[in-house]
Amino acid sequence: MGYKEVYGAWQSDPEAFWMKAAEAIDWAKPPSKALFDKGDGMFEWFSDGMVNTCWNAVDRHVEAGRGDEIAIMHESPITHATKGFTYRELQARVASLAGALRARGIEKGDRVIIYMPMVPEALEAMLACARLGAVHSVVFGGFAANELAVRIDDCTPKAIIAASCGLEPGRVVHYKPLLDGAIEQARHKPDFCVIFQREQEVAKLVEGRDVSWHGFQYGVEPADCVPVEGNHPCYILYTSGTTGQPKGVVRSTAGHLVALQWSMKNIYNIEAGDRFWAASDVGWVVGHSYICYGPLIAGAQTVVFEGKPIGTPHAGVFWRIIQNHRIKSFFTAPTALRAIRREDPEGEWIKRYKLHDLQALFLAGERADPDTIKWAQKHLGVPVIDHWWQTETGWGIAANPMGIEELPVKLGSPSVPMPGYDVRILDEGGHELPPDTLGAIAIKLPLPPGTLQTLWNAEARYKKSYLTQFPGYYETGDAGMKDKDGYLYIMSRTDDVINVAGHRLSTGAMEEVLASHPDVAECAVIGVADALKGQMPLGFLCLSSGVNRPHDEICKETVKLVRDKIGPVAAFKLCTVVDRLPKTRSGKILRATMVKIADGESYKMPATIDDPAILDEIKRALRALGYAGEPG
Ligand code: COA
Ligand code: AMP
Repeated sequence: MGYKEVYGAWQSDPEAFWMKAAEAIDWAKPPSKALFDKGDGMFEWFSDGMVNTCWNAVDRHVEAGRGDEIAIMHESPITHATKGFTYRELQARVASLAGALRARGIEKGDRVIIYMPMVPEALEAMLACARLGAVHSVVFGGFAANELAVRIDDCTPKAIIAASCGLEPGRVVHYKPLLDGAIEQARHKPDFCVIFQREQEVAKLVEGRDVSWHGFQYGVEPADCVPVEGNHPCYILYTSGTTGQPKGVVRSTAGHLVALQWSMKNIYNIEAGDRFWAASDVGWVVGHSYICYGPLIAGAQTVVFEGKPIGTPHAGVFWRIIQNHRIKSFFTAPTALRAIRREDPEGEWIKRYKLHDLQALFLAGERADPDTIKWAQKHLGVPVIDHWWQTETGWGIAANPMGIEELPVKLGSPSVPMPGYDVRILDEGGHELPPDTLGAIAIKLPLPPGTLQTLWNAEARYKKSYLTQFPGYYETGDAGMKDKDGYLYIMSRTDDVINVAGHRLSTGAMEEVLASHPDVAECAVIGVADALKGQMPLGFLCLSSGVNRPHDEICKETVKLVRDKIGPVAAFKLCTVVDRLPKTRSGKILRATMVKIADGESYKMPATIDDPAILDEIKRALRALGYAGEPG
């Protein structure tokens, strides 16, 4: 069957389609049906089935006689380490860790925060939680203590599992002080913390609260897998919304298993025994779906990579790993390829390695610019597949399904909707737009298995954020269009979310931090185009009257403030002081117009602007920072 037939099969009988897909999962009790309509736009999948994620990702492969195959390969060019774990070893390690967590009182439904860098133990921690039916929430290492504290208060974990440190090129990230600071700031306190001591930095444990990863496993009884209901949350993953309060995306167990298993074969063409690598971080959705769960559920080999595309130690590190581990499908963000291309425009590093096992390169996380795709196509000689998805969906909304059929690539498009996704382009009133017309991208409800079930402790926010604007649809927050062949084009966000180096960030959250500076009366943060990172945040400050300190000094302080409050990952480095911000007569800041000016694009003077002269001041300030060239 080709793509059209597979998509058609889903359209004509979604229930049968997903029940068939569910057969690829091991159930303690099979579900009686796929979709459970809870009313008011709320849906669940496979709710009455009983199933365990860890069983499907680990134990069943050992049972099937593949226990000696490598499950996880750790590649850390930063520590010069390469180490593999078989499925059998992984099973023993995860069962032991789960047993130790259980002995300390962790049970089904308890939340556990995981704050770890790219070490295999991060995956083991996730799987150990899943083994017990505990709900993990992984927090990215590039966030500051304050962000961790916000997540602690929101999901109220019984335990936190953390590493002593992370390693960035030339810098040790001191996780333990960040963790201690976050627990101090948070209102909720965990019962205990498990600390994985790395040899690069051994942390001091807090007596009575902290236990060591190895020590607390001593003598414990390994835990078996605990089957849970299909709609039981597997994890919570926080992602940026329009405010400083992140959204806790809830992923339920059964839909997640079914969708990831389906996607591994049909999108990435990966089956048991194949080798797959997604160069992302466990703190992001790509890390959840395609470093940890997807490849392991499929029985494939995954790679945990602690390094960067360049500088650890060179721009050939991706190709070396692909060669040495005979990777069949590789997944990264366009920004990583742009970084490599900048250092290696002629692909000299690529030529040094034998990449004959590589069959496809997948890109996601941000818009893949055609130049980067063409460069990769030319030098790698394999299909370069852009695909589009979000933390909320957990797997591809649109892709070129390599395991079904390789469709013609259209540069600038992540290709076509996957089964389960009925994608429509709508105008402001919710009416469908004709082909090649820009509009809001929405997905007809229900969303497929594996997508978010709700937001943690915030069902009203879930409905308001995603379901209210277009009744009967999920609002993606992206704008774009569909061509007459059904190919999608994702152009921009419709909200205050920006995408910096494939990382999703909220300008609203940054504005909240800037506004907390005592000299700042008002501010705005916009995302400006950046050749490497796609976008970079840029802040405008209006100072309180009477403040006459040097502007440079205030800008530096705000840059530090964002780094301290949100974290280095915010990459907030550009800031300028202006007298006023351009606004509509009703007081709304005209951020979209400011972005157009910054990027040197032509713009229409907004009819509702309060005082057009302000735009000239904005232009001058941007030019001083090297932005706002003439419209090209
Ligand atoms: N822990 C602590 N700090 C981190 C971190 C982590 N896990 N990840 C990033 N940071 C820090 C970086 O050290 C950097 O700090 P600095 O301001 O002191 O230099 C800052 O956060 C910004 O990081 P980043 O935007 O990633 O920029 P970079 O200059 O370190 O690297 C690239 C640039 C393009 C090489 C890098 O962004 C990259 O590899 N991107 C790929 C992104 C990706 O895979 N995203 C996954 C989404 S699918
Ligand atoms: P995240 O939740 O971090 O995965 O970010 C999701 C957002 O990243 C989407 O809503 C898009 O704005 C953007 N995005 C992800 N993949 C693509 C893609 N292939 N093309 C364009 N934008 C993308």
